[in-house]
Amino acid sequence: MRVYNFSAGPSMLPLPVLERAAAEMTDANGTGQSVMEMSHRSGDFKPIIENAETLLREILGIPGNYRVLFLQGGASLQFSMIPLNLAGVEQGEQKKRITLVDTGIWAKKAADEAAKYAELRVAASSADKAYTYIPPAPAPEPESAYYHITWNNTIVGTKWPAIPGAGSVPLAADISSAILSEPLDVSRFGVLYAGAQKNLGPAGTTVVVIREDLIGRAPSWVPAMLRYDIHCKEASMYNTPPCYGIYIIGLVLEWLKNLGGLEAMGKINRKKAALIYDYLDSSRAFCSPVDKSCRSLMNIPFILRETEGPQKKEIEGRFVAEAAGAGLVNLAGHRLVGGMRASIYNAMPLEGVEALIRFMERFEKTIGENQCSARYFCRGL
Ligand SMILES: Cc1ncc(COP(=O)(O)O)c(C=O)c1O
Repeated sequence: MRVYNFSAGPSMLPLPVLERAAAEMTDANGTGQSVMEMSHRSGDFKPIIENAETLLREILGIPGNYRVLFLQGGASLQFSMIPLNLAGVEQGEQKKRITLVDTGIWAKKAADEAAKYAELRVAASSADKAYTYIPPAPAPEPESAYYHITWNNTIVGTKWPAIPGAGSVPLAADISSAILSEPLDVSRFGVLYAGAQKNLGPAGTTVVVIREDLIGRAPSWVPAMLRYDIHCKEASMYNTPPCYGIYIIGLVLEWLKNLGGLEAMGKINRKKAALIYDYLDSSRAFCSPVDKSCRSLMNIPFILRETEGPQKKEIEGRFVAEAAGAGLVNLAGHRLVGGMRASIYNAMPLEGVEALIRFMERFEKTIGENQCSARYFCRGL
């Protein structure tokens, strides 16, 4: 029996994609080989990577002056590659400036790496309220090499309500946990990146979309594997790319195209998220700690309205365990913030969300009156 997997990533893949991959496991496209066995430079693999890029360009609406890369190293390696390539300087030169908005743990990691190579300016932060909102972001200083945001904050469940203005400064965004979840105006960004393991495919592939004028700025000492110019020149084949992951990304993109693309996907995602938020806002037991203006469509943390004490831990543990028993798995919140979290990426069917809400309604009835009383309030993570 397949479960509904609410993991923040790696997470669910569409069932038709898995079934097709299974059917093609030993003989893909009549080649008599698995994609895992193909030479990445062969005529058998070429159409697979080209198909993935073509579909990604079409579905995400990537303008012609942007390059698409399929790399390795996860989104985490982009925390280093972006400053190295866009803000790195030759030895002895004065460091460049970078502007970043601090919206949570992933933004902080991007900042920590960037600060190794450049002078970092944090334009705004929502740390004062445990990152439960997106702060108003001032325009970056014009001399910044780039302006970095984390579009969707997987751990705390916030998403930027709109793309911030960056003037002439290239906007760099980590879109790992929201890529392809709804339409996005790529032309507003200088560089976008995402680890595949949420909305694109299996872990191991990172997609980078970069505007052409930003390629070729890395100083000479940056290693080859970390240079956008080399990866672009070699069309993601400087070394062996993550072939199987790229193949699955192609299948996921075909699934998404057949579904109606990002307009249709966005509509489904808004419906799924609204069901959960509406339930949380009216529940006597659970609530969302996130400001309504910037709630994520993909990652929905929730906490007990009862705020303190060992009882809370006990109830949370029971919730996660009983949900798993009911086929609703991976509902524990991130280890750094606790509570619970439902990640409902593109592949989570509406039925999974409905099953979760039914379970929560049933569970709510098992919690004693004192945990649900109106004197408790939702205090935030
Ligand atoms: C927003 C965001 N950025 C970066 C990462 C790190 O990704 P990776 O494990 O691919 O390096 C994650 C992982 O969950 C994430 O959610």
